[in-house]
Amino acid sequence: MLSIKNLTKTYKGREGSIHALANLNLQVEAGEIFGLLGPNGAGKTTTVKMIMGFMAPTAGEIIFQDTKLAMAEPRPQFGYLPESFKPNPNLTVEEYLRFHNQLARSSIDPEKLDVQLRLVGMDRFKQRRVSDLSKGMGQRLGLAQAFAGDPDFLILDEPTSGLDPIGRSEVIDLLLSINRQGKTIFFCSHILSEVERLCDRIGILVEGRLQFVGQVKDFLAKWEVDNLDAGFRREVKCVTS
Ligand SMILES: Nc1ncnc2c1ncn2[C@@H]1O[C@H](COP(=O)(O)OP(=O)(O)OP(=O)(O)O)[C@@H](O)[C@H]1O
Ligand SMILES: [Mg+2]
Repeated sequence: MLSIKNLTKTYKGREGSIHALANLNLQVEAGEIFGLLGPNGAGKTTTVKMIMGFMAPTAGEIIFQDTKLAMAEPRPQFGYLPESFKPNPNLTVEEYLRFHNQLARSSIDPEKLDVQLRLVGMDRFKQRRVSDLSKGMGQRLGLAQAFAGDPDFLILDEPTSGLDPIGRSEVIDLLLSINRQGKTIFFCSHILSEVERLCDRIGILVEGRLQFVGQVKDFLAKWEVDNLDAGFRREVKCVTS
């Protein structure tokens, strides 16, 4: 469904070139939950931003359902949760979501909006101002807006970030149930236990290079087999701790 080919990103910073992503090749199949896992600075958000068309790759391409995606074109086919989700603080939850649904050309039927809020456990906070939400509530609102327009493919950059353990578990259950309804999910995380419950397949990214792609159980087996170089093992420990 989504095919990433030789995707590479080099940022030009004051310190010179930063090789954030090198020759990433990945396929996400229709109907699966794919987790991109890696420590801080591994290149996960860089990958997501290029999939979303927010910045141009240095090299490589992204193909969705046999069509090469162009830079800076709208991506109505994707529901997206950014890493730093910052909705307008002056709006209420309901106003923000109604506005966002309009942008996604989705139904503004108030009943549908209630369903959307109930899905993420935010229906009680419909009238609360965004500025007054807790971090976890804000993250749930971020998830609700990712569902606007009822896209078949969700791209979520750390969907459980900022949530308490119960909230995290609820979001995992929510993503599993959404997946059972036929949605494909591509998400980033650093937490192996969370991807274990959620994912069909994972990719392990370390310093911009894909070190593994496949099922979690195969990753764990491979990790135990002492055939990985020391640097990678150190990074994996960081990922799994
Ligand atoms: N706009 C930018 N300009 C220069 N360097 C950047 C920029 N954005 C990211 N980087 C660098 O690219 C590398 C990958 O960053 P990225 O945000 O993709 O990592 P990440 O895997 O999402 O990390 P985290 O788990 O902390 O969110 C890091 O070294 C980061 O400092
Ligand atoms: Mg990130």
